[in-house]
Amino acid sequence: MSPYAHITGWGTSIPEKVVTNEEIAKMVDTTDDWIRERTGIRERRVASRDETTASLATDAALKALEVANLRPEDLDLIIVSSSSPEYIFPATACLVQDRIGASKAGAFDLLAACTGFIYALNVGAQTIRSGMNKNVLVIGSETLSRFTNWKDRGTCILFGDGAGAFVLQASEEPGGVLSSVLRSDGSGENLLSIPAGGSFMPASSETVKDGHHYIQMNGREVFRFATRVMAQATREAAEAAQVPLEEIQLIIPHQANRRIIEAAARGLDISLDRFIINVEHYGNTSTASIPIATCEAIDQGRLKSGDRIVFVGFGAGLTWGASVVQWSGPILPKRRIPPPFSYRIWARIRSLLLRLVRRMEGLIWGSHYPDGW
Ligand code: ACO
Repeated sequence: MSPYAHITGWGTSIPEKVVTNEEIAKMVDTTDDWIRERTGIRERRVASRDETTASLATDAALKALEVANLRPEDLDLIIVSSSSPEYIFPATACLVQDRIGASKAGAFDLLAACTGFIYALNVGAQTIRSGMNKNVLVIGSETLSRFTNWKDRGTCILFGDGAGAFVLQASEEPGGVLSSVLRSDGSGENLLSIPAGGSFMPASSETVKDGHHYIQMNGREVFRFATRVMAQATREAAEAAQVPLEEIQLIIPHQANRRIIEAAARGLDISLDRFIINVEHYGNTSTASIPIATCEAIDQGRLKSGDRIVFVGFGAGLTWGASVVQWSGPILPKRRIPPPFSYRIWARIRSLLLRLVRRMEGLIWGSHYPDGW
C-alpha cells in the first residue's frame, strides 16, 4: 500500500521590521482607515538588508526539522515555492540545501505565486505517496518588498515578507495530505505580474526606468477571481478527500485580504471562527502565508493531532488550489539532535570544503583538457 504523507514539522521566519499603515500613508495617498476597511491589514513585516528569500527559508527550514526530530541529511527532497526567489537561477532550494547541509537531498523551486505552497505541498506529498521519497521539506519564502513599488498605493499596502516550512514524512498510518485540487487559468496572466526581468522583457535601463520590475496588479479583477475560486476549491478538495465540510475543524486560507476570506466563509456557509486569519499583522506574504498562519494556529492551540483541515489559496497565473490534510504532528520519538545553529556551522564548513575541492580539481585537471575544448 502507498505510504501516507504526514506533516511532522513546521517553522517560520518572520522579519523583525514592522511597517504600519500609518508609515505607508506617509509615502502614498492613503489612510490607515482605508487600508483596514478594504483589506483588514494593519501592518506587515519587511526584510532587512541582510535578510533574503534564501535566508528566511533556511531559518524556517531548520526550525521545521527540529520539530520533526530530523537531521538535514535525512532529507530526500527540498522544494522552495517563491515568487521572489534569490536569483532567476540557481534555485533558492539549492541555496537552502547548501546552507543546512542536506547532503542527500534533491532541490528545486516551484512557481505558482500565492498558490505555490499548496502546489509544493502536493508535489512533495505525491513523491512520498509514490514511494520515491521518505522525508521532504517544503518551504514558502518571500521578500516581495523588493519587488514592490512603494509609490503605487494599489499594491504597496498589501504585501509583506516572511517564510514558513513544513516537513513531510512517509508513514503507514493513514492521514496526512488527503486530497489535492490544483487549478490554473493562464488567460489571466496580465492581471497580476512582474513583467520585466524574464525572457519576454529582459532587464534594461528602460525597464527599470519604467518600473516594469515591480508588481503590477488589477486589484478589482483579482478580487473577483479570488472570491469565486476560494469556496469552489475548498468544496472540491473536501469532496476528493470524502470528508464532509462539517467534519473540517479548521480552514487555513491564503492571507491576501480579510474581505476575500469573509466571502469564502459566506460562500461555504461556514462560520469565520473556523478560519485562521492573521492578515492584520503580516499583510499578504504570498506563498508563505499558509504555513505562517498554520504555525500561529498551532501556537494558539487551535490545531490538534487528528484534526482535519483545509489549506486553500489563489494567486498570479492565475492559479488556485486546495488540500484537505489530517493533522499529525511529529511521528519520530524525541531524540537528541544538535541545535539548528550547529547545522549552520557544519553546513558552512562543508560548503567551503566542497568549493575548495572544486578549485583544486580545476587546477589539477584544467590543463588536461584536450586542445579545442
Ligand atoms: N488608498 C486609498 N484609495 C485607494 C487605494 C489606497 N491604497 N488604492 C486604491 N484606491 C482608490 C482607487 O483609486 C479607487 O478610486 P476611484 O473609485 O476614484 O477610482 C477606489 O479606491 C476603489 O478602488 P478599488 O480598486 O475598487 O478598491 P477595492 O475595494 O477593490 O480594494 C484592493 C483594492 C485592496 C487592492 C482589492 O481589490 C484587493 O484586495 N484585490 C485582491 C488583490 C490580491 O489579493 N492580490 C494578491 C493575489 S496573490 C498573489 O499571487 C501575489
